[in-house]
Amino acid sequence: MALIFYSESDRYDAWRDALHAALPDLEFRPWEEPGDPADIEFALVWLPPQGALRQFPNLKAILNLGAGVDALLKDPTLPEGVPVVRMVDDDLATCMAEYVLLHVLRYHREQPALDAQQRAHDWRMIASPAAMHRRVGILGLGAMGGEAARLLVGAGFDVAGWSRRPKDLPGVQSFHGEDGRAAFLARSEILVCLLPLTPETEGILDRDLFQALPAGAYLINAGRGGHQVESDILAALAVGQLAGATLDVFREEPLPAASPFWDHPKVTVTPHNASITNPQSAVRHVCESIRRVRAGEPLRNVVDPDLGY
Ligand code: GLV
Repeated sequence: MALIFYSESDRYDAWRDALHAALPDLEFRPWEEPGDPADIEFALVWLPPQGALRQFPNLKAILNLGAGVDALLKDPTLPEGVPVVRMVDDDLATCMAEYVLLHVLRYHREQPALDAQQRAHDWRMIASPAAMHRRVGILGLGAMGGEAARLLVGAGFDVAGWSRRPKDLPGVQSFHGEDGRAAFLARSEILVCLLPLTPETEGILDRDLFQALPAGAYLINAGRGGHQVESDILAALAVGQLAGATLDVFREEPLPAASPFWDHPKVTVTPHNASITNPQSAVRHVCESIRRVRAGEPLRNVVDPDLGY
């Protein structure tokens, strides 16, 4: 039994060592040397070449190295009937929640304005209310959004979330579906996007959505570039409908050198590094999936191709 690994951004040797320590009987094979394709039962992958997974006739599960499976599901030739498992890992969710807390706090405490004042040698107080008076809205309350909500509630913020179905999270006001959207947006002074990218959520961060926010709201997007209509973000910043945006993801990555986001005074750019899968921690999730397949138990965190996440 063997596992094949493909990723241009995750470290082969770190995954090989972590999996070897946890499952010594599992052969770990690099993409370039798959050996007999019939041996391969598991594929641990991030953005594999389209069609490539079809060459393994005994594949039992495709284990995605990231939380988002949008790119993988774009492959129309994925082998039918082979489950795709999302990466769900405590460290991944914790790191995402830290990113969200950091940038919510920055906006809440007016840090971008204070940074600008420092550059201008301008000594002026800017008051911020206590966190309980700041309404934060999270689009998407899955593994990532749920953990971000938990951390924000712990820090004292007035937190609401919007998801496809209602969610019951302590201290978080839940809105759902089309019906709940307008009320959710109207109360979101700082809006955080942690949605999966699906045909329904593609381009959701657009002009209409920004207009439904309180004037001068802030946007934090650590979902996918595909969520954002980038010209609408720039337009909303120009008229002050958005007071600022922190973007970890973009339509085109790496962000082209000529992008107006790089030097925009109201935009913080991070290079898709809000949360990065750490093999030391995520190996537990991969081992659990492999154990379940071997034991004939149902897999967890399997992607529903109809929902797209
Ligand atoms: C990264 O973007 C991921 O999906 O984990």
